[in-house]
Amino acid sequence: MPELVLHVTGARPNFPKAAPVIAALTARGIPQLLVHTGQHYDVAMSDVFFTQLGLPRPDVNLGVGSGPHGAQTAAVMTGLEELFVEHSPDLVVVYGDVNSTVAATLVAAKMGIRTAHVEAGLRSFDLTMPEEINRMVTDRLADVLLTTSVDAVAHLGNEGTDPGRIHFVGNPMIDTLLAHRDSFDPEPVRRELDLPDTYLVATLHRPGNVDRPGDVQELVQTMHAVADQARVVVPLHPRGRARLSEAGFFDHPDLQVVEPYGYLEFMGLVRAAAAVITDSGGVQEETTILGVPCLTLRPNTERPVTISHGTNRLVRRDNLADNVREVLATGPLQEWAVPPLWDGRAGERIADVLVGVLRP
Ligand code: UD1
Ligand code: UDP
Repeated sequence: MPELVLHVTGARPNFPKAAPVIAALTARGIPQLLVHTGQHYDVAMSDVFFTQLGLPRPDVNLGVGSGPHGAQTAAVMTGLEELFVEHSPDLVVVYGDVNSTVAATLVAAKMGIRTAHVEAGLRSFDLTMPEEINRMVTDRLADVLLTTSVDAVAHLGNEGTDPGRIHFVGNPMIDTLLAHRDSFDPEPVRRELDLPDTYLVATLHRPGNVDRPGDVQELVQTMHAVADQARVVVPLHPRGRARLSEAGFFDHPDLQVVEPYGYLEFMGLVRAAAAVITDSGGVQEETTILGVPCLTLRPNTERPVTISHGTNRLVRRDNLADNVREVLATGPLQEWAVPPLWDGRAGERIADVLVGVLRP
């Protein structure tokens, strides 16, 4: 019987990470099953990535949908347990740090199925973030830890991880970016939104920014102060939409709130932006490669390489507007570096590691 690799995806950031891994395993003739947990389900949060990134349609969609952490994680676990019994995968591959990631890892570990974690070892050291809990549990249990950066390797080492489990392979999200870069055209969206030459893009969805009314009120004030300086386009994640709307976020003529964009449209918009304001993990990495200044509205980042090498800086709600002023005055970046192994070949390296695990 040939080996079976089962990929578990579920939320928006999983899809650009999984695409190059699936493609590289397909090229090596490895039988695969693609599972979508259904954690994200809007067309703009899910289907559009399958259409645009050449991902195969999921073989199974568990349709778990939204819910509190316990219920969502449990629903993914229940669905996956049945699937793992049915298909007996030889290896389960999980991506990033979302609830679907940790749920899959818990089930696989208890069933004695080997698990590989793509994007292992990232740490914000902030346990108020659900993602940090998901990362720590996933890395403790996964057999194969595939890392995107040198700091991730160090974190795993500091936690006493067997070095034999750790593989520094680079960043598959950047494979996807480099593969599609020629299709990042800002013009259609620019025309659609009637954007001026200088504009900013913002994405906001972290609980630390959009869940509590006090934070939301402060966020609205600071984003309006930013919009006083330049047009801001906000492809708004569904998480904070209702609370932000109630708090008057939409009530500024130069703050343009739109639905989430497809990957290609979003990256086109980012590519030509004067700067990006974000609390996203992936966007910190993408702006680093595109050379677009990134102001990350968070007290910490699990992706420090985007600061040491890239275009990222951490900002607070009380100094965001000043940082925007400075970035707009400085103009486009002339020089920045690319983190090691963010070279478009991470999917190939990951596939080589996984084939080595399957066929020692
Ligand atoms: C999740 C991840 C987060 C990641 C983000 C990427 C966890 C714990 N969090 O956060 O790490 O950065 O995805 O986007 O896994 N909703 C919709 N349509 C959808 C999906 C969600 O309307 O297709 C709304 C629902 O109201 C839902 C809320 O968004 O309750 C939050 O969705 P959920 O998947 O629980 O968490 P995210 O905030 O999206
Ligand atoms: N993204 C997109 N359209 C949008 C916003 C984001 O295609 O309107 C893409 C972008 O490539 C980003 C990825 O979705 O890196 C994941 O983003 P998100 O911020 O949801 O997740 P995180 O990386 O914070 O977990």
